[in-house]
Amino acid sequence: MLILNKTAGVFFKPSKRKVYEFLRSFNFHPGTLFLHKIVLGIETSCDDTAAAVVDETGNVLGEAIHSQTEVHLKTGGIVPAVAQQLHRDNIQRIVQEALSASRISPSDLSAIATTIKPGLALSLGVGLSFSLQLVGQLKKPFIPIHHMEAHALTIRLTNKVEFPFLVLLISGGHCLLALVQGVSDFLLLGKSLDIAPGDMLDKVARRLSLIKHPECSTMSGGKAIEHLAKQGNRFYFDIKPPLHRAKNCDFSFTGLQQVTNKRIMKKEKEEGIEEGQVLSSAADIAATVQHTMACHIVKRTHRAILFCKQRDLLPQNNAVLVASGGVASNFYVRRALEILTNATQCTLLCPPPRLCTDNGIMIA
Ligand code: KG4
Ligand code: ZN
Repeated sequence: MLILNKTAGVFFKPSKRKVYEFLRSFNFHPGTLFLHKIVLGIETSCDDTAAAVVDETGNVLGEAIHSQTEVHLKTGGIVPAVAQQLHRDNIQRIVQEALSASRISPSDLSAIATTIKPGLALSLGVGLSFSLQLVGQLKKPFIPIHHMEAHALTIRLTNKVEFPFLVLLISGGHCLLALVQGVSDFLLLGKSLDIAPGDMLDKVARRLSLIKHPECSTMSGGKAIEHLAKQGNRFYFDIKPPLHRAKNCDFSFTGLQQVTNKRIMKKEKEEGIEEGQVLSSAADIAATVQHTMACHIVKRTHRAILFCKQRDLLPQNNAVLVASGGVASNFYVRRALEILTNATQCTLLCPPPRLCTDNGIMIA
């Protein structure tokens, strides 16, 4: 841990030589080091070990990430103990890479910020204990971070967004609609009653054995579905949109997953193939699932926009909808949300895909 042990000297009666040595050893970044606070962010809530160094104006000074996707694809899902071990194996290297890229000495950090919830307990524990050790070693303040708040506020790194705005967070572990009224001031409008949309896509992709598809073998379930859906018929089979009678902004994706499973079983019988082989209609199934999911997400978001406008919680014109989380990197979902925001005089803002999925920058 060479870089993590480096500390800058402080002199009581500095001689010229000592001042010279001190300045030479100092990692000087004009405009950042002396003027801005600098935070190291650490994220290990799920299956990405990520770290970043960001200054208070939002400049990303360095970042690093290790994704466990390939390993979990092989085991057919995230095994918490495996995720924990992979975080343990990688966290020190990733933090060191982010610090090296930033050329900031650990002693010059203003604080260390780490995801503390929500997420997989075993994964969160690795980031937390690593951070607390570092905090003790460097004597720096610790900032506990709520993973979903970080996703919701990421847009403020790339766009000038005023409060209040509406946020839609759709990922593998979470699904919610909230009104963001301030940095830590969220009004929850709706959430998934069962699984998150990314989890549903991952399960469908697994059931379709897309890992065996030559074009999708290294992709996450959601990305594989998006990729295949481009070649498929989105009206391949009928699925009722979930919760279509519910007069609220909640979501549900389990029904969609179960209906799709039944369809896959039926098709396997028709085509005379075993579970574990790729169906000839995999692209059509992917397109139908993606389309139904997007329609559901858009309908619930539409309700949230109407609700907020009716109660003057959002401006009547140019209200901002922020969509973030892994599933918000899906271009079909984004296009559907764009149609909604155009029709309701709102503006849709999405962080770039690499900031939509888990990363250290959003934590810092
Ligand atoms: O935000 P994220 O990296 O981690 C969580 O906090 O869950 O999201 C990961 C999820 C996975 O379920 C993955 O299948 C999904 O986001 N995902 C996508 C796409 N890329 C990743 N879903 C749909 N379309 C994509 N292009
Ligand atoms: Zn996330």
